[in-house]
Amino acid sequence: MARINVKSPNGEYPILIDNGLLSKLGERAAELSLDRRVAVVTNTTLAPLYGEALVSALPNAHLITIGDGEQYKTLATASFLYDEFARVGLDRSSIVIALGGGVVGDVAGFAAATYMRGVRFVQIPTSLLAMVDSSVGGKVGVDLPQGKNLVGAFKQPEAVIIDPRVLQTLTTQQWRCGMAEVIKHGFLADESLHDPALWTPEQAETLITRAVKVKVDVVERDPYEQNIRAHLNLGHTFAHAIETVSNYQWLHGEAVGIGLVGAGMLSARIGLCSPEFAVRIEQVVEAVGLPTRMGALSPEDVFAAMATDKKWREGKSRFVLLEAMGKPRIVEGVSEVDVLAILKHLIS
Ligand SMILES: NC(=O)c1ccc[n+]([C@@H]2O[C@H](COP(=O)([O-])OP(=O)(O)OC[C@H]3O[C@@H](n4cnc5c(N)ncnc54)[C@H](O)[C@@H]3O)[C@@H](O)[C@H]2O)c1
Ligand SMILES: [Zn+2]
Repeated sequence: MARINVKSPNGEYPILIDNGLLSKLGERAAELSLDRRVAVVTNTTLAPLYGEALVSALPNAHLITIGDGEQYKTLATASFLYDEFARVGLDRSSIVIALGGGVVGDVAGFAAATYMRGVRFVQIPTSLLAMVDSSVGGKVGVDLPQGKNLVGAFKQPEAVIIDPRVLQTLTTQQWRCGMAEVIKHGFLADESLHDPALWTPEQAETLITRAVKVKVDVVERDPYEQNIRAHLNLGHTFAHAIETVSNYQWLHGEAVGIGLVGAGMLSARIGLCSPEFAVRIEQVVEAVGLPTRMGALSPEDVFAAMATDKKWREGKSRFVLLEAMGKPRIVEGVSEVDVLAILKHLIS
């Protein structure tokens, strides 16, 4: 059992990580304040796997089920949740639990942040990505037709409850997508995350604990994303553009894998890191089983999609690059020629 305390602008909250923890929440309900009125928000895949059992184990819990997929991370779903919260009689002392991946966490968190100007909120992330990334740091929100994550809030949870055992039902593809963020955290601050001996279900508790610590350390230092929290976007300028141009054929984690390779190549090209280090990045991405090339996407189209990045101020490019292991740097004004050269390497 690991416990990490996170200092946030709204006080401190614990992240609890323990194999089998989900099935023990009934006996620990009072200690974790889950004995009051609770709305468990989950999706159609996770309700039969874990949601129904959780609701039966808690004394006063109601199950609310939304559809499975990013297409449900909308204001329409938030509106459905408000109706359900009212129907089950939530008040400001009640708790919303998000039981699911990043989609459930983001939309349930957004509804919890806004219903009655904010009700109490607990995250039970069930995907590897949600455990090591989206459930930590307080960002919640929904997509608009105009773009992803365009409406949102900062909502700190009261607790994050992680049971690595639930990963047994996650698909291999989704596991790898979560691993993209795990190895990203490794490049930023903890090289031990690149040890394949940790990439097994038996070691999941250790892997998750270390990966979460990297994110916690960054968000504690920059809770509102004003400076170093941007480091977490390593590989993501490439990734978001690749996702968009591929029409989301590449999943986010897959695009991050390619993006990490691109960030390494670009760092080496502009002389920030050694060529050997760029090769090392590619080896780690490959070892996880993630793609390292983006297929037949047009480099010009990907560059054009990058240039719409909201972090590229006044058309000036902006990348998180690496000087070495554990040494991220924000670099502005990398030339189009350099970026296009890397995108051409990333084809096929
Ligand atoms: N708030 C943040 O800081 C933050 C950070 C990163 C990503 N995100 C958001 O997170 C979302 C992606 O999260 P995700 O990758 O978890 O996607 P997801 O929530 O869609 O989950 C991926 C798939 O895995 C299934 N799943 C989850 N846990 C499972 C389990 N234990 N067993 C079987 N199936 C399971 C889900 O039902 C879904 O089909 C995106 O919307 C992204 O914008 C938010
Ligand atoms: Zn990501």
